Amino acid sequence: MIGVKDLSKQSNGTRILRGVSFEVAPQTVLGVIGASGSGKTTLLRCLNGLERIDGGAIECDEVRLDANLSANEYARRVKELRRKVGTVFQHLYLFPHLTVLGNIIEAPIHVLQQPRRKAQDEAYELLDAVGLKDKARRYPETLSGGEQQRVAIARALAMHPALLMFDEPTSALDPKRSAGLRSLLRGFVERGHTMVIVSHAIGFLDGLADRLLYMENGEVVEYGETNQVLNSPGDPRTKDFVEQAK
Ligand SMILES: Nc1ncnc2c1ncn2[C@@H]1O[C@H](COP(=O)(O)OP(=O)(O)OP(=O)(O)O)[C@@H](O)[C@H]1O
Ligand SMILES: [Mg+2]
Repeated sequence: MIGVKDLSKQSNGTRILRGVSFEVAPQTVLGVIGASGSGKTTLLRCLNGLERIDGGAIECDEVRLDANLSANEYARRVKELRRKVGTVFQHLYLFPHLTVLGNIIEAPIHVLQQPRRKAQDEAYELLDAVGLKDKARRYPETLSGGEQQRVAIARALAMHPALLMFDEPTSALDPKRSAGLRSLLRGFVERGHTMVIVSHAIGFLDGLADRLLYMENGEVVEYGETNQVLNSPGDPRTKDFVEQAK
């Protein structure tokens, strides 16, 4: 479960997020949409503790980050948060010196202390699910953008974090791969995971996200059931955005 209350964030005197509030119930998916520069990535970076928030509070599976915490306490809670949250970033950050398999099993072995054999078996299952089983021994630089993106997704899923965050997970995928990813993620939700997915691809979120949050200039314009936001939005700005994005 994720709860965000009146979150604000500024950087170098510019306000990037203002008064952002929403909730993501356990085993549901929140889709975040909005124009480039509206604050979507910054919101994810606040949710996983990479950016310190300036106002409001975030609660992720019983870890509470509050703008009023001391620097030490904030850092301590972010460490705790990291055990629960997995993120696939917009820029993927695969380890260049590790093979595809190495990228996926690194954290399960060294952080979760899984036996190598078990980590490898699961890595192959995930690679199979994203259509890359035959590329396990390749290095990231020898893969296409879409293949690298799928490795990054498999790497995040291998850690089984309660909360998963994705920043534009389909930006380099073709329609068939996007559809495959959608059912893979839906399967993870059914097995107990909760997700926040930032995406320009409304078609990808439709049928995957339970709720949508539409942002403009760092503020929430609309937040509600996916069907309602897409088909009968309450704000004309949402309607314009959705029509253009379709
Ligand atoms: N470290 C920073 N310092 C100053 N401004 C920043 C910083 N990071 C982001 N911004 C600004 O905050 C705004 C929101 O950026 P953000 O990356 O969150 O947008 P986004 O919605 O993810 O966009 P995109 O769809 O292009 O990925 C932008 O105007 C950006 O220039
Ligand atoms: Mg972004």
